[in-house]
Amino acid sequence: MAAYKIIDHTYDVVVVGAGGAGLRATMGMGQAGFKTACITKVFPTRSHTVAAQGGIGASLGNMAEDNWKWHMYDTVKGSDWLGDQDAIEYMCREAVPAVHELEHFGVPFSRTPEGKIYQRPFGGHMSNFGEKPVERACAAADRTGHAILHTLYQQCLKHECEFFIEYFALDLIMENGVCRGVVAWNLDDGTLHRFRAHKVVLATGGYGRAFFSCTSAHTCTGDGHGLVARAGLPLQDMEFVQFHPTGIYGSGCLITEGARGEGGYVTNSAGERFMERYAPSAKDLASRDVVSRAMTMEIREGRGVGKENDHIFLHLEHLGAETLELRLPGISETAKIFAGVDVTKQPIPVLPTVHYNMGGIPTNLYGEVLRPTADNPDATVEGLMAIGEAACVSVHGANRLGTNSLLDIVVFGRAAALRAADTLKPGTTHKPLPKDGSELAVSRFDRLRNANGSLSTSEIRLAMQKTMQMDAAVFRTSKSLAEGCAKMDQVAGTLSQIKVNDRSTVWNSDLAEALELENLMDCALATIVSAEARHESRGAHAHEDFPNRDDVEWQKHSLATVEGGKVKLGYRPVHTYTLTDEVEYIKPQKRVY
Ligand code: FUM
Repeated sequence: MAAYKIIDHTYDVVVVGAGGAGLRATMGMGQAGFKTACITKVFPTRSHTVAAQGGIGASLGNMAEDNWKWHMYDTVKGSDWLGDQDAIEYMCREAVPAVHELEHFGVPFSRTPEGKIYQRPFGGHMSNFGEKPVERACAAADRTGHAILHTLYQQCLKHECEFFIEYFALDLIMENGVCRGVVAWNLDDGTLHRFRAHKVVLATGGYGRAFFSCTSAHTCTGDGHGLVARAGLPLQDMEFVQFHPTGIYGSGCLITEGARGEGGYVTNSAGERFMERYAPSAKDLASRDVVSRAMTMEIREGRGVGKENDHIFLHLEHLGAETLELRLPGISETAKIFAGVDVTKQPIPVLPTVHYNMGGIPTNLYGEVLRPTADNPDATVEGLMAIGEAACVSVHGANRLGTNSLLDIVVFGRAAALRAADTLKPGTTHKPLPKDGSELAVSRFDRLRNANGSLSTSEIRLAMQKTMQMDAAVFRTSKSLAEGCAKMDQVAGTLSQIKVNDRSTVWNSDLAEALELENLMDCALATIVSAEARHESRGAHAHEDFPNRDDVEWQKHSLATVEGGKVKLGYRPVHTYTLTDEVEYIKPQKRVY
């Protein structure tokens, strides 16, 4: 192995990732007086949060009566009773102060004529325990993530947090089960860096890029999941992958659910508003799993639109140019660029597209990573936290409601900083790092840098993406999942034949993509194996051979440990209790829309 010079750094806290969760945590850590570093593989304001469109959920009640208990009820129901209700209570309660805090930080929310934060309806958000849709999505036009991300970055700078930009996290430094830091590669000059920290916070986002068509940025490669898997820790509920009903046909670009919140609707080849049949009450504003399945059924039964009858139309023309310009300017532009459609005159061709990973790194509601044992399913890993889409708290359970992702990132980003402030003193002395602490990271880096097999990263990645798209789809069967597992086993095996052409260390995107592919592969394996094992239908996991939810056998979280391309499964109980006695545990019910 080549000798690599390693540059050392010491911080109280290191946050990996600079999306909304990473920046909210970074800012909070800085505010609490911690010497904080945030390392990120892209410039902070290019993180995927910038693409979030429709809004952040909070029961402000600016447009109609609302209540955090109704928000909690909708979130539990949306999660199909796989969410942990203590965490859901925490998130929905904290939503209102979290949004007000963002307003005070300077997020330029859209306004009502009286100057209040503008709110729009969104799928699955209802008033009075499921009675009728309520306006709960606090929006900055259709660029809410953009507004939040830029504001949080400014707040981080105000609190003098240090940024290591275009640094790629390679591996965690673990000692006797405790996380002691992280090793990263500076893409810009090729140097390797060892960050020693009392707490490492993973805020690395999802792994949408394990699939062929997704709304996620190319950077969403499950990097935190990979770090955790290689540290021998499990990933939770990975079988639950959300398809957003309205990705643009062909490109997969997101058309916000806020478009249906503003009055948009979907039709089939007969021009029928078919959601009235599938969800008579919520119609186009049913939760995403319901709308995605309905669209897929229409296409399967030959009622899709277009030459191949393989997609659906989303209509916004009737909203009028003025509303489209005021409320949906971003997607109007996206539809023009990616579908060649003028939304004031024509419908947008759309298709369900992979959008969000409900599963991820298991944590408690303080952001502490879990290493469940037989005696203690909630045992934590000292020194390691995870937040945002990378984590599985679990507030989204089997299916996330739109707007709860922006909410999750700010609420749990803040919670992680509060927990750190409760458990660590700024400036606490560090022990020396173990001698072999960075060996895993450096040897992996060197192995891939010099990989000389016969298959390019893109060939292996495409095989993985096609398999996942085909076999871990909106609808799954025992046959498709068994085939998917066998194919993924074979695809993962080809990683040993990878070839990296560029041997340099400076801006070597060939190597960066190979490192990302290893992370994606662990995510894909955990997803398909967990899905094959779950013999029921729940939320986003629609299993045609087991069409019903089975709360007796399957109201439990899956745990997937990936080692050497093989997945070992375990389970831990769902929290069937609330955080306070202000609300009672919401017992499983049949979901009606
Ligand atoms: O449709 C959207 O604007 C997406 C929102 C979300 O995923 O929360």
